[in-house]
Amino acid sequence: MKFDTPATTNPIDRLEAVGKPFDRIDGRFKTTGTAPYAYERHDVAPNAAYGYVVTSGVAKGRIASIDVAAARAAPGVLGVVTWQNAGKLGQAKTHYARLLGGPEVQHYHQAIGLVVAETFEQARAAAGLVRVDYAREPGRYDLAAQLETAPLVGGDSGEGSASPPVHRTGDFEGAFAAAPVKLDAWYSTPDESHAMLEPHASVAAWDGDSVTVWTSNQMVAWAVRDLSETLLIPAEKIRIVSPFVGGGFGTKLWIRSDALLAALGARMAGRPVKVNLARAQVPNNTTHRPATMQRVRLGAARDGRIAAVAHESWSGNLPGGKPETATDQTRLLYAGANRLTSMRLAALDLPEGNAMRAPGEAPGMMALEVAMDELAEKLGMDPVELRIVNDTQVDPEKPERHYSQRNLVRCLRTGAEKFGWNRRNARPGRTRDGTWLVGMGVAAAFRNNLLTKSAARVRLDGRGVVTVETDMTDIGTGSYTILAQTAAEMMGVAVDQVVVRLGDSRFPVSAGSGGQWGANNSTAGVYAACVKLREAVAGKLGVDAASAVFAGGEVRAGGRNLPLAQAAAGGELVAEDAIEYGELHKKYQQSTFGAHFVEVGVDRFTGETRVRRMLAVCAAGRILNPKSARSQVIGAMTMGVGAALMEHLAVDKRPDYGFFVNHDLAGYEVPVHADIPHQDVIFLDETDPLSSPMKAKGVAELGICGVAAAVANAIYNATGARVREYPITLDKVL
Ligand code: MOS
Repeated sequence: MKFDTPATTNPIDRLEAVGKPFDRIDGRFKTTGTAPYAYERHDVAPNAAYGYVVTSGVAKGRIASIDVAAARAAPGVLGVVTWQNAGKLGQAKTHYARLLGGPEVQHYHQAIGLVVAETFEQARAAAGLVRVDYAREPGRYDLAAQLETAPLVGGDSGEGSASPPVHRTGDFEGAFAAAPVKLDAWYSTPDESHAMLEPHASVAAWDGDSVTVWTSNQMVAWAVRDLSETLLIPAEKIRIVSPFVGGGFGTKLWIRSDALLAALGARMAGRPVKVNLARAQVPNNTTHRPATMQRVRLGAARDGRIAAVAHESWSGNLPGGKPETATDQTRLLYAGANRLTSMRLAALDLPEGNAMRAPGEAPGMMALEVAMDELAEKLGMDPVELRIVNDTQVDPEKPERHYSQRNLVRCLRTGAEKFGWNRRNARPGRTRDGTWLVGMGVAAAFRNNLLTKSAARVRLDGRGVVTVETDMTDIGTGSYTILAQTAAEMMGVAVDQVVVRLGDSRFPVSAGSGGQWGANNSTAGVYAACVKLREAVAGKLGVDAASAVFAGGEVRAGGRNLPLAQAAAGGELVAEDAIEYGELHKKYQQSTFGAHFVEVGVDRFTGETRVRRMLAVCAAGRILNPKSARSQVIGAMTMGVGAALMEHLAVDKRPDYGFFVNHDLAGYEVPVHADIPHQDVIFLDETDPLSSPMKAKGVAELGICGVAAAVANAIYNATGARVREYPITLDKVL
């Protein structure tokens, strides 16, 4: 189905199943331990052997020699895979570092081998017997050291939307020089780790020259493609299965070494092999959100209108890697005739930097939205009002291009009222509660809404049960549930009459889970397939689907009715289709908007910050399930607090080392429940007929964008300490 004219009234608008706060279908399985994660697939591979990944102990250099004899002779060991015996391997175009290194080593903890044994303990013990001698080379680990030399490089946010290295509109330098009120400030964000609960894990089994990999992955079709490019076998010979994912946040957008090594290990051992990455291997073996340094310049008239905005960002990556697109939102968020954005990329020998929840906008808003707070103070203006004054209903770089929908101002005003913003004292350090200095902060939220092809198959059987099949994943987001709601609405059946089967490359290719595009696109794909299934069912009644009503488990038209079970009594009805986007969406800018409000207390004596209250107001089109959407947003807000106050991969910058020191959940701090006492989420009641037939948009990543800046701004309001280096630990506040 080509979506190329604005959506009109359709069956989804009935909102009998869609838009309701259904519990997550997978919730019971996950909380009772009956959702089989990849590493637990004893059912499909009861005779699996265990692989333990051997990782590099240096960041850069060559393996001078490797001795696996002792490991191979250890009890239970079935074999050792290294680059020397793995056969010819390719490199997936989306990977900057090889998933199996050697003899060249590109980053610390890069996989250089796999020990396969009868038990996990035997594999791990034997891995400790592998002797490796390295010829070390000094690496580059310090972004700040390359501020002057890093070249301009474009990016694509790791997820598909292109960003040029430099973008100019008007005359930034002239307008900035002439502006009566100016801000010029530097901000920095650290390397961060996804810290999802389930580490990367895979089980691989070969059948002749075909391989099946049960794994934990967000993008099943990308996994097939990347494994095909790496193993150098045709995509048809690869099956990827990923029905349950214990969190991803971007690090499972692409396969990692566990998937490749499980396949190589299984080929060597001649039986299935399961591999998981030990928690302490994850941050350095896989991907991370790269650190940034950002310079923001804002020039405004005395009434607050921005005349000049410049946002320049520096980040680093392995050679061939891409920059963090931290300037993306600055091209779109506020009005202003004279604009400059640029990205520079330093070559670093740290592990691969790549997408982590809202790549680009999440760290970019951490700078831009503090800069707006600083500008508001210079202007003597309320920071909510400053943002409202600079609202735009068109793309500021292309004024002929309108937003499909943009309700940022309503988010700000609604939030200010509900949060009690008028109780905020604009002068820092004036509000106290015992020994706590109390402050409030605000930030806009912004994240693009990406429209991407998504296919699905739906079946109707003789019991009247509707089965949905698509390679969409559910990474804890609620995909199972909203897809069931969509099919139920379209076919006029109860939600519990729908079976949803996900995460298998044998199913039609969906949008997958990334870039907050999963919900709108994958439900629209199911919508498209259901339109075809409705035609098949209506045909059984001898009527046109357009004139038929699907409700109560039957189809009705012209005074006649037919139960769905009966329509399929003579054989299962099957329909398959995809949502595809034509020219329409290119004419409009598709984004999601919100406002974050945060109240903090800062201990007057220790500088410790405690978040007291948070509110997010989101404008993200139709909300398909307010319960799962709220869960996504409060989770993202929590992650934003982590980015503001705690999260920080500490880099060992010594020339021979270059790795993330705190590479486990003991040393890498994220918020716990006690850190987050109170969160509210308000969804504006809106639909976007230009986004899809669902009239929905993404919301999961919107929830993080701006949060950390709102915390930083609240800390400033509480204390008068303006911290521009994240995370805002107490030493920086004192
Ligand atoms: Mo994401 S960083 O869109 O999985």
